[in-house]
Amino acid sequence: MSPRLRLRPTMLSDLDFVISVELDSQNLPFITPWERMQHEGAVRFPDFRHFIVEGGEHYASIGFVILQGCRNPHRSVELKRLVLRAKGQGYGRACVRLLKQMAFRDLRAHRFWLDVKQLNTRALLLYAGEGFVEEGRLRESVRLSVGEGYDSLVVMSLLDREYQARLAHGLEEPLPDLTPDAVLPRSGDTP
Ligand SMILES: CC(C)(COP(=O)(O)OP(=O)(O)OC[C@H]1O[C@@H](n2cnc3c(N)ncnc32)[C@H](O)[C@@H]1OP(=O)(O)O)[C@@H](O)C(=O)NCCC(=O)NCCS
Repeated sequence: MSPRLRLRPTMLSDLDFVISVELDSQNLPFITPWERMQHEGAVRFPDFRHFIVEGGEHYASIGFVILQGCRNPHRSVELKRLVLRAKGQGYGRACVRLLKQMAFRDLRAHRFWLDVKQLNTRALLLYAGEGFVEEGRLRESVRLSVGEGYDSLVVMSLLDREYQARLAHGLEEPLPDLTPDAVLPRSGDTP
């Protein structure tokens, strides 16, 4: 059974938490941290959705998520960032399932995509297990966070029809409606 989890829109007062999770030495190798101003922009700009992930019995803050491309004219929505403090307890999988539902059902995406560092085995396994298909690799496109050298980015995506097929085959367990109002299309969003 999936662990208890919900998303709520990030507020500017959450950004100390967001930045502390991002700068955690367990997470730094897998992401390129942002300046506070970039997070502020993602909280404010309508093309983004920035969420705090809350989980566990008391819905404590356990991480954050950023979606980008919510107004993309090609309906290509990016899972820009997913970072959790609590690892290996199933929250990542539960969160990706919720985000897929949000992308395809609420934001009406045609394509939900992401890139992930090649060294990030855990995230690669998670996304592949959730139906994301590898599109290709951007060879040696990011510097290693420690020491010399480069890593490659693996671009992965899931298309609307692939998600619908997963639903039809029972591969997407039905989720309670946990979508915060803030994710619903805003006026001016691409239909
Ligand atoms: C990547 C991340 C979101 C995954 O969330 P999580 O809660 O740790 O993952 P889950 O417990 O849901 O496990 C998901 C899958 O990851 C894989 N996995 C879990 N722990 C692993 C480990 N120690 N080593 C390798 N793979 C592992 C397994 O395939 C697992 O699925 P399974 O348990 O059904 O076999 C989280 O670990 C994280 O925030 N990591 C740092 C930041 C990051 O890498 N973000 C993604 C950038 S693209």
